[in-house]
Amino acid sequence: MLQIGDLKLEVPFFQAPLSGYSDYAMRYLARENGCPFTFAGVMLAKSAAHPKVLKKPQFIPRQDEHPIGAQILGRDPVVMAKAAKDLEQVGYDVIDINYACPAPKVLRRRRGGYLLNEPELAIEIFDAVREAVSCPLTVKLRCGYTNSSEFRDNFFLIARQLAERGADALVVHPRSVKQVYRDKADWSILGELKQECPDTVIIGSGDVFDAEQSIQKMKEAKIDGLLVARGAVGNPWIFRQLKAGFTGQPIPEKPSPKEQAETMLKHLELVVEIYGQSKAVRYFRKFTAQYSRLHPQKKQIQQELMTAKTHKELIKAIQTSYCLNW
Ligand SMILES: Cc1cc2nc3c(=O)[nH]c(=O)nc-3n(C[C@H](O)[C@H](O)[C@H](O)COP(=O)(O)O)c2cc1C
Repeated sequence: MLQIGDLKLEVPFFQAPLSGYSDYAMRYLARENGCPFTFAGVMLAKSAAHPKVLKKPQFIPRQDEHPIGAQILGRDPVVMAKAAKDLEQVGYDVIDINYACPAPKVLRRRRGGYLLNEPELAIEIFDAVREAVSCPLTVKLRCGYTNSSEFRDNFFLIARQLAERGADALVVHPRSVKQVYRDKADWSILGELKQECPDTVIIGSGDVFDAEQSIQKMKEAKIDGLLVARGAVGNPWIFRQLKAGFTGQPIPEKPSPKEQAETMLKHLELVVEIYGQSKAVRYFRKFTAQYSRLHPQKKQIQQELMTAKTHKELIKAIQTSYCLNW
């Protein structure tokens, strides 16, 4: 079990906020496959705090998807606090503060991972948000702005203070901001952090692609849970594998091509419902590219799916490539 504030999860993992990906469709499939908690994509606090934005249906959690978390990005403590409060009011069950994003346009505005350079402001923002919401509050961090010892010290300083000031969990991706996705995530840093903050829930993020290996990494680092990010894109079955692994069941094999096809079709149906047919096919390409990696003839399949231009063509391509050839 994993407890984050008053939120109790039966199994210790959840789906990451994934900008441009973790919409209702992806969250639905995650839950269907045993994921106990999911995050919507990051929101700019300035937008979330705008009175009109949180009236749009795509930003409001649906009834069937609790518990769900919202993540906010920004550097003004007042705006961050208002955004968090508004998001809590429209129904999000957990708020997360982003001190991790490495995107150049975010760093240029000194938001996201940039705030690891500014421990005082990072703590001030946290205090303002903590004061504003009563739901569980978590913080997502990378392990420093760069890998230099000065920045590593800043990370530990911020993490320790967040723990002392009542963060309900620290979700840490142990690569530096400047490292982006290069090299392997260094999970030994997570173990070190857990030793420094033994009473705080520490969730590990980074290269969670294989259920068995990730459970092993979590146990070795002696941390409390796993965040599933890229490993869930086009592979919602990772959640049922993790669930099995954590509940002492044999880890299921990858799904049959028929099940892969059925899941893709369901995903596509949800995407069409959200974005409409004309936008859906283009939007869905990033998912088909990932889904098709599980297929034994992935190159050929990928090409067939990618060339589909209309909704009808894509459905036909999925049916033909996955079912009729098998
Ligand atoms: C396309 C994409 C979008 C992401 N969006 C977010 C985001 O909105 N908020 C966030 O905290 N992290 C975001 N991340 C980072 C992931 O949550 C995660 O920490 C990172 O990918 C490392 O985990 P992984 O190696 O298992 O993918 C994103 C990552 C990717 C690849």
